[in-house]
Amino acid sequence: MVQALLKTESKPPALWLVTQGSQTVIRDEAVPAVAQSSLWGMARVIGLEHPELNCVRVDLDPQMPAAVQAKRLATELISQPRSIRLEEEQLAWRNGQRYIPRLVRYNPEQLEDTFVSIRDDKTYLITGGLGGLGLTVASWLVDQGARHLLLLGRSRPTAEVESPLEKMRQTGADVITVQADVSDQAQVARILAGLDERYPLRGVIHAAGVLDDGALLQQSWQRFETVLAPKVSGAWNLHRLTTDMPLDFFVLFSSAAGLWGNRGQANHAAANAFLDGLAHYRRAHDLPALSIDWGAWSEVGAAAGMSQRDRLRLKTRGQGLISPRQGIEIFTHLLAQDTAQVGVIPVDWPQFLNSFEVVPSFLATFSTSALKTSRLPSEQTVNSGGLPEQLMQFASAKRKELLNHYLAEKLTQILENKSFDSINTRVSLTELGMDSLMSIELKNMVSRDLNISLSITSFIDSSVEQLATLLSDQFTRTALLQPESSAADADDRSDDLEEEFVI
Ligand SMILES: NC(=O)c1ccc[n+]([C@@H]2O[C@H](COP(=O)([O-])OP(=O)(O)OC[C@H]3O[C@@H](n4cnc5c(N)ncnc54)[C@H](OP(=O)(O)O)[C@@H]3O)[C@@H](O)[C@H]2O)c1
Repeated sequence: MVQALLKTESKPPALWLVTQGSQTVIRDEAVPAVAQSSLWGMARVIGLEHPELNCVRVDLDPQMPAAVQAKRLATELISQPRSIRLEEEQLAWRNGQRYIPRLVRYNPEQLEDTFVSIRDDKTYLITGGLGGLGLTVASWLVDQGARHLLLLGRSRPTAEVESPLEKMRQTGADVITVQADVSDQAQVARILAGLDERYPLRGVIHAAGVLDDGALLQQSWQRFETVLAPKVSGAWNLHRLTTDMPLDFFVLFSSAAGLWGNRGQANHAAANAFLDGLAHYRRAHDLPALSIDWGAWSEVGAAAGMSQRDRLRLKTRGQGLISPRQGIEIFTHLLAQDTAQVGVIPVDWPQFLNSFEVVPSFLATFSTSALKTSRLPSEQTVNSGGLPEQLMQFASAKRKELLNHYLAEKLTQILENKSFDSINTRVSLTELGMDSLMSIELKNMVSRDLNISLSITSFIDSSVEQLATLLSDQFTRTALLQPESSAADADDRSDDLEEEFVI
């Protein structure tokens, strides 16, 4: 549906995604529809890649009669002004109240010196145990005294992991590697049934995962299935098959992508949002659970192999790397915490917030403090050299010339290795070396600087000159239209709605 909307020639309508009981709004409340939580993760990426879709998610109250829920939804739909960006993109209704989420800082004071005791007569299961993070956590468990580890992955250990495995075994630990697909319930059941009864399972760390990144336009259901399988089916299998076992911990290795999205990772964000949802779901059922939304780790794991370019991208977006030492230290503390979900992400807040075309209101708590040292994109737009004002002063030919120049400049920023003079304005952007994520970046820059929203396909197929013509035409059309009364719309909206509560 998202792909179809993006390919429409006309301005797409706002996209509303509605779930029912998929979000934990009140601590430890029962969330019956945990399966729907992945949609919220995907939506965060829709918001980042395509702000023009105005993607809003609403979680309705499953305890309310259908007629009441329908009324709430209708109120939201009718009251949101169509002409301006919505203030809140994530909403939930519970007990007749409207809730909006806010990210809050985890209080470091709460990181008490309490640790979960690791037992030498119990078994600990790590899925993805031969991967970078899995193996690091396995070594830590052995250091803490664990003597029975089960490391699960689909492949056999490579020569590279033999040495750390050997090191753990030399301490006397029984480290078993087992080949199985965690998304296959029968395989997981067989492995759990085969555990030595003398050493019952006491802890689970679910660190299995695969990536298949790509912009939403390039995504397919098959690519989603690949990424969702180990996280969604895998976590659910582990949950179902261990429900009756007295576990000390059940840790889900989730990602920052699920928490606030990441361009090009819609499937990964969806998969991880499910892990977050499952942690809340389990806690509501008095089962141990902790979902850690990790930022990128250095040295070990999938992110350690990221290209120089991706590393730079991460840095420009204000996000740093977690060293294995830091990661394990934080993990040790978190394991003993009474919380369902924590994000562990090194963030330079001013820079991070500046990287958004539109800062999600979910981050408002941080944007107000970060604003003191930094300007948000909307302010930059106002002071950005006034390109729209310049365009207004010129006739069509000169306008296109200015837009050509503007686009070529933006391309040198995005393509990095291209100088201004080397940009051939007659060949398609793809031929210039733009991939789909870069096209999205350019589209969002244009939308921010010129307040013009063109379909993403224009940014893939066209040359700079063609794009300048399209933008110039669109600019002329927009300038001829009367501005809509957005302020009045917004006022109408606030009158209609009930009180807002912040969680
Ligand atoms: N590394 C980071 O910076 C980072 C950041 C945020 C979140 N995370 C999360 O942390 C977890 C571990 O990450 P990592 O960097 O250690 O990844 P990794 O090195 O790629 O390891 C992941 C492991 O999962 C296994 N796996 C994949 N699909 C499986 C399946 N269906 N059944 C069983 N095992 C499966 C893989 O082995 P086989 O292919 O042999 O099955 C692989 O060994 C992942 O869930 C990841 O999303 C990592």
